[in-house]
Order: sequence, then structure tokens, then C-alpha cells
Amino acid sequence: MIVSRRVQAVLLAAVLLVATAGAKPVIVGGTVASTAEAPWAIALNNTQSAASGGRYCGAALVAPNKIVTAAHCMDEAVSTYYAVQGRADLADDSVGRVSGISKVWIHPGYNTKDNRYDVAVLTLARPFTGVPVLPLETRARADRAGAVPTVYGWGDTQETGPDETLQKAAVPDLGDKTCLANKSYVSNGYAAATNVCAGYLAGGIDACQGDSGGPLVLNGRLLGLVSWGQGCAQPGKPGVYAEVAGVARALLQQVR
Ligand code: ARG
Repeated sequence: MIVSRRVQAVLLAAVLLVATAGAKPVIVGGTVASTAEAPWAIALNNTQSAASGGRYCGAALVAPNKIVTAAHCMDEAVSTYYAVQGRADLADDSVGRVSGISKVWIHPGYNTKDNRYDVAVLTLARPFTGVPVLPLETRARADRAGAVPTVYGWGDTQETGPDETLQKAAVPDLGDKTCLANKSYVSNGYAAATNVCAGYLAGGIDACQGDSGGPLVLNGRLLGLVSWGQGCAQPGKPGVYAEVAGVARALLQQVR
């Protein structure tokens, strides 16, 4: 996730320019995150992955034996997936815990045509007992323009940062109206009740390939999951997240 230092430098220059022009400055840039600050951030790796370290998707620990990810991540045989906790650098297998997946539940409403209900719950073969879990955000009103959630993932940085290393970025909630104003987002299935529209219309900071299924966190709760976008960090193309509150009832049934 997050985009190149060069893009960041340009954006920073633009921000400084705007700042000197008297407008409010904003913070630009994603940073490396530690697993101590995000113990519930899970790398959902796959033995078939072309990326190094088996990197494939992200997920969030919501119970000692349950992780939530994107339904669209579940296109390989169940036996090829493994969850990794506590390993910021996926190349460093001296730290962290690993578990296979014993069961997969995909939201019955998920379909690839409109990308809605892009949510799956996986059961860990070896629970990550003792690790702090991320509570689900069940209130629809948590998704509102002006909130500033943070997205976490090991996905593509487009050469900005170390590969296969946990990164985070604050991505403002732009409100459903922003994504609904974009015809191609509507035709791709963006839905107010089940999606969150977040990022920067100026571009530069976003989730990207390999971040899918990873957590979008607001006030210590799981607000959304990385679902889709058009390119990464492109101007006018914010990230689309599956909205947890929109599927909370079904999720709670799977998690308890
Ligand atoms: N579908 C992508 C994945 O599988 C995530 C895309 C998120 N894109 C974005 N621009 N926010 O990893």
C-alpha cells in the first residue's frame, strides 16, 4: 500500500505550497507499522502466491480462532492458505505465529459482478490465543465523512517502502456520496449500506494489491475491509472497503 516517495515528495511540496498560500495543511504519507500496535493485523498468505514470502491478502483477528477477510481473497484451495500473526516483515520467520485454515464461510450475498458483501470468516486450525482481537463496528453511522480510519496491510507499496512489510496509512472517510458520484464506481457495484469510500481525491495514499481483506480501523473497531479500487492512489479514485456494520448480523453469527 501507499505510494512512492517521489509521489509523496510531490504531494508534500503541493501541500506546503497550499499551506503557504494560506489553506490548511494536511498530512501525507504512510509508514511502517509494528505488530505491537496492530496485533490483530493478520497476513493471509498462500502457498500459491507469486509474491515473495507467500504474501496474498490481509485479514483481521476478531476472535482467538476467527479472522475476517475479503470474500474475493478466497479463490484458492483452503489447504493453501495460512494466517500469520505478529510478523511485520514477512521474510522474518523468527517471529510470529502461523496457523492453517480449517473452515471458510463466504457471505452468501457475495458475487463477483457487483463485488458486494466482499466478506469471509475463516476459522484458524490453531487459535491465536492471548492476542488482542479487533471488535466489529456494528453501527452504520460510524461510516461518515470526516472520520479518519487507518488501513493496515502488507500489500504493494509501488516502490515506496520495504516489500512485504506491514504498513499503515490514515485514509479519510469521504462518505458514500463521493463514491456514488463516480459513475464507474456505481457500475462496479458501490453501495452505501455495505461499502466505505475512503482515501484522498488528490491521490498519493491508498490501499493496493495484496492489501485486500485487511483491516480499516476506526476508534479501535473494525470499520471495513480492503475490497477494491481503480488502480491504486490515483487522483479521483478513492479506495472501496466492505463495510462491516452492513454485514454485522451475519458476521456476529459466524464469530461467536
Ligand atoms: N483487490 C485488491 C487486492 O486484492 C485490493 C484493491 C484495493 N485497491 C485500492 N485502490 N484501494 O489486494
